[in-house]
Amino acid sequence: MSDLILPIYMDYLATTPVDRRVLDCMLPHFCESYGNASSATHSFGQKAAMSVAQARQQVASLLNAREREVLFTSGATEANNLALKGVADWVKRGHIITAKTEHKAVLDVCKMLEGRGFRLTHLNVDSAGRIDLNALDQAITSDTVLVSLMAANNEVGTLHPLAEIGALCKARGVLFHCDGAQAVGKIEIDVESMGIDLLSLSGHKLYAPKGVGALYVRSRSPRVRIMEQTVGGGQERGLRAGTLNVPGIVGLGRACEIAGASLREEGARLIALRNRLHDRITSRLDGCGFNGCEQERLPGHLSLSFSGVSGTELISDLRDIALSSGAACSSDTPVPSHVLSAMGRSDMEAQSTLRFGMGRFTVQSEVDYVADRVVGLVESLRVGVRDNGENEYTEKTVAI
Ligand SMILES: Cc1ncc(COP(=O)(O)O)c(C=O)c1O
Repeated sequence: MSDLILPIYMDYLATTPVDRRVLDCMLPHFCESYGNASSATHSFGQKAAMSVAQARQQVASLLNAREREVLFTSGATEANNLALKGVADWVKRGHIITAKTEHKAVLDVCKMLEGRGFRLTHLNVDSAGRIDLNALDQAITSDTVLVSLMAANNEVGTLHPLAEIGALCKARGVLFHCDGAQAVGKIEIDVESMGIDLLSLSGHKLYAPKGVGALYVRSRSPRVRIMEQTVGGGQERGLRAGTLNVPGIVGLGRACEIAGASLREEGARLIALRNRLHDRITSRLDGCGFNGCEQERLPGHLSLSFSGVSGTELISDLRDIALSSGAACSSDTPVPSHVLSAMGRSDMEAQSTLRFGMGRFTVQSEVDYVADRVVGLVESLRVGVRDNGENEYTEKTVAI
């Protein structure tokens, strides 16, 4: 018998807890080693600069990049803005290709650039959320400057074929930006072998804190040029001004190091947990639709639609489990997911969807508990009986 602590966190795609080992590295940088990394005149500043340099090396090493190619930002949203607007401001005009299923942190920037005169193409995806490489090839024209495609989709977990996209972009002389927020630290990302020119990543998706991230910018073959989007202090080689968030950066570096050291085994563990959850739900419940790509998807991710029940109703009744109906940023709005719509799901299907996100601290007993609760609740909602028992839910520990 073991204890299960409620509520169970199953929303690792929205954010992850900070790993204790990451926090331990960060703590001295608040009250002891609190120097400004730009203060080169004294030991406080020098120590901070050395810590930032080490973190830059740790991030670069996870991506197979060079240290000087890593710029620290406040997260993936800022990194996406810097990448897309930075390239656009450098080239001044042209054509940008993205996909309908990208995160709003790419789509909204693209919309802004369209307003500034750039031509945009939004690639379609198939029912598994995959783009067609031939369609990408055909979409590239002589004025195409940039292709922006994510590594892993945050709502359905589908992975894009990065190496193939990178090779195609290289062959056609177009820059390739990749939003790697959901993929870095979970699957292998190698900017060299994948031909990625710009890559955005986010600390809070890989057990570092919120408010820190990075943008990889290729320095050779080709040297990628971007225009700075914030000015005022010349930090990050003039490309991202502002005093560096030393504790956050140190945490991000350590988080990248930890993730890199356990990438394969943690991936395999999460695939087993995710498959177990999938089997334990779908073997006992009819009318479950799988969203995503069976073969090419994130390890700890599962998106299921339950015919006849509403996702928001499910979530509000499952108060003992932290879940999302889609992207964190849009899960409190009734608008059907743009990702599921692009994959051909009806509004009804999209609104009956739950996203299960498992991560480093998810254990099998939690997966089994979640499967039982979801099966029981969907069954009771389908026959019109509400699950009153768990509506009385308060934080607790249950023995299993
Ligand atoms: C694919 C993707 N891109 C970008 C972001 C934004 O990242 P951040 O929260 O670091 O700004 C997210 C977060 O949900 C995401 O999933």
